[in-house]
Amino acid sequence: MKYVVGNWKAHKDYGEAEKWVEEFRSYDFKGLEGKVEIIICPPTPFLSLLKEKTKDFPFIKIGSQDISEFDEGAYTGEVVSKNLDQIIDYCLIGHSERRRNFGETDQILFKKVEQALKFNIYPLFCIRGAGDPLPGKSPFIVFEPVEAIGTGKNESVDSVLSVKKTLSLQKSSKFIYGGSVTEKNASIYLDHDEIDGVLPGGASLNPLQFYKICTSS
Ligand code: PGA
Repeated sequence: MKYVVGNWKAHKDYGEAEKWVEEFRSYDFKGLEGKVEIIICPPTPFLSLLKEKTKDFPFIKIGSQDISEFDEGAYTGEVVSKNLDQIIDYCLIGHSERRRNFGETDQILFKKVEQALKFNIYPLFCIRGAGDPLPGKSPFIVFEPVEAIGTGKNESVDSVLSVKKTLSLQKSSKFIYGGSVTEKNASIYLDHDEIDGVLPGGASLNPLQFYKICTSS
C-alpha cells in the first residue's frame, strides 16, 4: 500500500474547498483501491465537508493538520482528539511550520501523538531530519527536509534513503517523503520499495495535479 497525503496548509475558503472536492472525486480512480490510500488534510473547518463528500470512496481518508496535546476540557479554541473522532483517520503532527511558528517542542509533539492514538487516529509524525527524535510509537514517519519545502528543490531518493537508514524506525512504521513533491517527481518515490508514500503541499491545492500524483505509481 502506498500513501499520498495532501497538505493544504492554511489555504482556501469554503467555496474553494467544495469546488476542489467536487472536481477531485469526479476523476477516474479505477484500480486504486487496495493500492493507494489518499489522505486529504484540509484546514480544520473543512474536515467535515471533505469527509461527507468523500464518504463513498473507501480509499480516500481525511486528516487534520494538527491535534491538541490536551484531553477534552476547558481549552477554549483547541481542537482535541475527541472532537475529531469519526471525522478523521489521520493527523499531521510536528510539521516544521508548527515547530517553527508555534513553538511546538518534542515534548508537546509526543503528547499529541498519545492523544491521537487514544482515539485511533493515525499520527503522521513529521521530522526535519535525523536529528529530530521519534515518538515511542508512530505508525507513520514523514521526512520533510526544511530546504525542500515549497522551494521546488525536492530531495533525491538516495538522500531520503540515507536519512531513513539513520532512524530507528519500528518495523511496522511507514516512511513517507514530503518536500516539493509534484506530479513530475512523485513516481520516483512511490515506485521505490523503501518509501511508502509522499506528502505534497503546494501540488495538492490543485485537484488535477493531486489526482495525477495519486495515480502516478
Ligand atoms: P510542498 O510542501 O510540497 O509545497 O513543498 C510540503 C509540506 O510542507 O507539507
